[in-house]
Amino acid sequence: MNQTKNKKIVIAIDGHSSCGKSTVAKQLAKQLGYLYLDSGAMYRAVTLYALRNQLANNGTVNEQALVDRLEKIRIEFRWNETTQQNETYLNDENVEEEIRQLPVANHVSPVATIKDVRQAMVRQQQKLGENKGIVMDGRDIGTVVFPQAELKIFMTASPEVRAQRRYDELTAKGQQVRFDEILKNVEDRDRIDSGRKESPLRQADDALILDNSYLNREDQLKWAMEKAKERIEDC
Ligand code: CDP
Repeated sequence: MNQTKNKKIVIAIDGHSSCGKSTVAKQLAKQLGYLYLDSGAMYRAVTLYALRNQLANNGTVNEQALVDRLEKIRIEFRWNETTQQNETYLNDENVEEEIRQLPVANHVSPVATIKDVRQAMVRQQQKLGENKGIVMDGRDIGTVVFPQAELKIFMTASPEVRAQRRYDELTAKGQQVRFDEILKNVEDRDRIDSGRKESPLRQADDALILDNSYLNREDQLKWAMEKAKERIEDC
């Protein structure tokens, strides 16, 4: 019998924006039969709510007003049979596409610095992971959400490589974007995510580093699957 089937672990993948965390996380979850959870989508959905309700604009956020409305923001993930992916819902509306666009990207990091927002999101994330068998990606998964995760991966790549990937992804979807704007967004988010007081992006002491500047998808998955199997066998 395949022992790995019975032992479920938590896999935490943290790292800089646009370095392919979600690609590896989804592939790992699929191969292992685990749940994949995109914690960034939750911060993006809160940001979309703020933008729609005039609580964020021109890169600034009305923190107190947003915190006062937190209870009105319900975020869920629902499985889409056709795309075979989880999609993000904000108060029962599918917002999967809209949360990936530049207005949200330009406001999400300031929203994600707000302590009360983080506490509310982390609580939900911990609940979703309580039965293990989950791969979650974000900025603070190995440090704050699941400090006991059996496997922690810290991913990075150069800002230019990351901006190019995001540019290719958005233009392939038909969106009109400029490379220099994307690069600026990547650099701004790195700075805010790493410099903030609340749960800054940092590598957990026991995380394994994966710099994928020059790795293709197959190689990075192979690397991550090997590490996952080792940890599953060890526990
Ligand atoms: O896909 P990408 O790496 O560009 O970003 P994301 O994972 O969708 O996350 C969007 C933003 O949410 C990040 O830039 C962070 O500011 C914030 N975030 C966070 O603070 N903590 C997390 N666990 C996940 C995302």
